[in-house]
Amino acid sequence: MGPPWYSNTYFCDEEQEPRMSGKRAYWSTRFGFYLAAIGSACGLGNLWRFPFVVEENGGGAFVLIYLLAALTVGLPLLISELMLGKRARKSLIAAALELVNGKSKYSAIITRSAVLLTLVVFSYYAVISGWVVYFLAQFTAGSISQSDSSVNTMFSVLMENGLLQLMLVSAHLLICAVVVSKSIQEGLEKWVSYIMPVFAVLLIFLLVRAASLNSFGSAARFLFYPDFSKLTMASLGHALGHVFFTLSIGFGSMVTFGSYLKEADHIPTAGFRVTVADGLLSLVSALLIFSVVMQSASNHQDTGLLFETLPMFLLQMPGGWFFGVAFFLCLYAAALGASIGLLEVIVSNFMDQKKWSRSYATWFVISIAFLVSFLPALSSSVFKNVQIAGYDLLSFVDAILINWLLPIIVLGVGTIIVKGMSIESQKGLFVDVNRIESASLFGHWRYMVVIVAPLIIALALLLQLFDLVFKNGVL
Ligand code: PFF
Repeated sequence: MGPPWYSNTYFCDEEQEPRMSGKRAYWSTRFGFYLAAIGSACGLGNLWRFPFVVEENGGGAFVLIYLLAALTVGLPLLISELMLGKRARKSLIAAALELVNGKSKYSAIITRSAVLLTLVVFSYYAVISGWVVYFLAQFTAGSISQSDSSVNTMFSVLMENGLLQLMLVSAHLLICAVVVSKSIQEGLEKWVSYIMPVFAVLLIFLLVRAASLNSFGSAARFLFYPDFSKLTMASLGHALGHVFFTLSIGFGSMVTFGSYLKEADHIPTAGFRVTVADGLLSLVSALLIFSVVMQSASNHQDTGLLFETLPMFLLQMPGGWFFGVAFFLCLYAAALGASIGLLEVIVSNFMDQKKWSRSYATWFVISIAFLVSFLPALSSSVFKNVQIAGYDLLSFVDAILINWLLPIIVLGVGTIIVKGMSIESQKGLFVDVNRIESASLFGHWRYMVVIVAPLIIALALLLQLFDLVFKNGVL
């Protein structure tokens, strides 16, 4: 059972696990697709990553570049990935290989790197998800009090305790494994469709409360007044990397979702809605978090930004305990939705490529992810003295993967799609005969994916390289 939009008749064309027999299931309702795709896009990227990347890059000017990049580069590429999935009805590696008739070495390298990247991201995402579990447990147990020092002490205790972090990671990975090994129907749609709408309402409520803080105006100014002098040469790359991360582009996850769309579903509309919903969530979260940060006037930053600031704000509200539990419960659901999206990509590729069963592939991937998560999970304890280019291990892995590797992979996957598919079939997938405007939009979309997006990505990488070599060495 599930909410009204969730239907148990999800697998329309057959009742069995569709991948096992080579056929694909379709989303039972269009709304179900949106919730699941938005559930994969919206996650820790919006609440945990976006605020500290904005802070690192100086605020408003970066937010503006990020929004422009989301619409001009992110959206067109998101549409391409959904198109590939809808056409091939397979996961990334198989779909891309089919486009080039299995002949291109280049496609194999790019798509395999995408799956490998997804595996590493899944592993460190599990570490941050573990932090969320920790705060949820602390709020639920009532062991967190209203003083600033209590929250900070709790967070530093967590940071210094590597074993505790590994236990939290294991708990999270176990939950993911159980959900995904039980197949996509139960694993994905149901969870997300219950909690994401509640989270959206909760965040808006919190934002309304944050609007009464004195710092709300300064936070809004910091986020929306562009001061271009604060940008560095690496900012464009950071903005693009974050756009791809937050929209789940380049991981193959949107290819998997596209493969579940029905014939009649209009891909550009789907892509547009996912982009707008994700962008709005990021803006609301950032406004909320910066209002709280600026109110407390202390100096929070980096990957701990969300966790060092918001618990205090929640506790100071009447009924703080309840809001704390509700917030971290919803945040965990969002993290789980995204984690499941990531895990699903890796598992479905193993199933398609190696013909493994769902449960074998899931447990195999979970074991590897657990091993990989050791480095980020221990980065603030056992490996706390390991600093690379001024970053601790967790931030370093995040920066290398998202700011550098992800844009390269996105460029590669995008090229495979636009080169491998004939213009006719691209048009067939893009244009909806019932919407006259979609025919003219097709030309614009092609222009964006063939010319604009590759140029902007190449420029961003070049500027980052310049920044690294000649300026401040920021990754
Ligand atoms: N977009 C997710 C977030 O913003 O948290 C992260 C993510 C989920 C990336 C699923 C990739 C993916 F396949």
